[in-house]
Amino acid sequence: MPKEKNTFYITTPIYYVNDVPHIGHAYTTIAADFLARFARLKGLDTFFLTGTDEHGQKVEKAASASGLSPQEFVNNVGSQFSTLWQRLDVSNDDFIRTTEDRHKKAVTALWNTVLEKGDIYLGEYEDWYCTPCESFWTEKQLAASKCPDCGRPVEKLKEPSYFFRLSKFGQPLLEHIEKNPGFIKPDYRRNEIVSFLKEGLRDLSVSRTSFSWGIPVPGNEKHVMYVWFDALTNYLTAAGYPDNANRLEKYWPADIHIIGKDILRFHAVYWPAFLMAAGLPLPKQVFAHGWWTIDGQKMSKSKGNVVDPGAIVEKYGVDAFRYFLLREVPFGLDGDFSEKALMGRINADLANDIGNLLSRSVTMIEKYRDGVIPSYEPSAEREELEGRVRFLLTELPGQFEKSIGELNFHEALSKVWAVVKELNGYVDKTAPWKEKDDAVLSTVLSTLAEGLRILAVYAWPVMPSSSQKIWESLGLEKNIGEASFEAATIWGNTLSGSKVKKMPPLFPRLQ
Ligand code: ME8
Repeated sequence: MPKEKNTFYITTPIYYVNDVPHIGHAYTTIAADFLARFARLKGLDTFFLTGTDEHGQKVEKAASASGLSPQEFVNNVGSQFSTLWQRLDVSNDDFIRTTEDRHKKAVTALWNTVLEKGDIYLGEYEDWYCTPCESFWTEKQLAASKCPDCGRPVEKLKEPSYFFRLSKFGQPLLEHIEKNPGFIKPDYRRNEIVSFLKEGLRDLSVSRTSFSWGIPVPGNEKHVMYVWFDALTNYLTAAGYPDNANRLEKYWPADIHIIGKDILRFHAVYWPAFLMAAGLPLPKQVFAHGWWTIDGQKMSKSKGNVVDPGAIVEKYGVDAFRYFLLREVPFGLDGDFSEKALMGRINADLANDIGNLLSRSVTMIEKYRDGVIPSYEPSAEREELEGRVRFLLTELPGQFEKSIGELNFHEALSKVWAVVKELNGYVDKTAPWKEKDDAVLSTVLSTLAEGLRILAVYAWPVMPSSSQKIWESLGLEKNIGEASFEAATIWGNTLSGSKVKKMPPLFPRLQ
């Protein structure tokens, strides 16, 4: 994360409230949480935003189906997301809802600015209309020339609509992408957007008169704003737009918008075009991750295979779920979720590797040193043993940061776990239970404790509560989240004299 400013502003999409939160939403949010936690360890003034998208026709329909007003409906269902994030140890600094006044104010201000610049104009929107459903459909959306929702015939209709002059921004966007290779990531996603832009852009309809649950167009209240104009602006609202110039100066532009590949076009074409039109700086990066399937199948309500993160963490624990999501699949690519794969990771990486390393180290420190961590006695002859551990841990910060900078969580974690495995191998090689020399035994036990302390810091962004437990087991009282990455990952004899605490297994083995 190379930076000119000492701030880090990271966002997730704001999720539609008419759906229940599932593993896909949890994935994006946990990935963003990892980065936010890492940025805080690095000492950056971090602002991590998530929230809910509460306007639009879909919400209006869902509300009327449940016999509630749209506002009552969103008040009832919206909190499912914030409750889940607390359960998953997500450390967001703000939670934005698009029905809040601060947001309506920001969207209205952005609209007026773009209108004044001449990039919003009133025209006519022509498309296929299904009267019973009161919905407009594009040619592509139709199913065998019929309404894709109800299957009835559709007719060509016109309605007055405001348009955003998107056509004007194709070339400037291509230039921006060219000059800023990091703007859209991964690279294969950037290439998709470049091809899309090269085909040419049509102006975008940004208001509707066919429903009313949205932010009214200023001065023409028959129209409500297109839900994406409204939703995307949330990133500015929370950064203080339009009134809080200091805050905006501090956090805008966002460092990174983390999204799924389904909404890349909105974030990599529409959003930067709206910002360019308003004369505002563009976010530094939009990263689109891949898609989760469940046991090889697309997740859907009708298949009944939607994975509820609440139920998974109830059964397997929060940290195991977080670790699995980020370790299993390279960020960007699609992945498949199955309980079998989750259990495999828990047993191998968590129970056997890190859990076992902690428990055997603490047990030996208790048994051979009455629970007090001894001092390390450096010795040239043992360079192959302790020297190797020290070398790996000194190399790790650079490697870890490089992978995180590329949002390659899977690689970053596999590097950390390679060291966990090395330390387990070190225990086997040094066999402290056979060691007759007191100074050597002290060195081995101290090396294990110091290694665990450092590894806990690397593991903290993915497994905050287990890392805290590792620290407490080593007799450290401070909150691990308040540590500085630079200070906490330096190898030394820092734990000498500290009293270990035996704890129940971090990750019990599953049958
Ligand atoms: O699109 N695999 O909200 P949304 C991985 N409100 N990620 C998944 C996923 C899956 N199977 N399913 C969903 C919206 N996601 C708009 C966003 S932002 C200004 C407005 C994640 O509730 C992924 O991050 O449909 C995807 O982009 C997002 O949920 C879509 O959430």
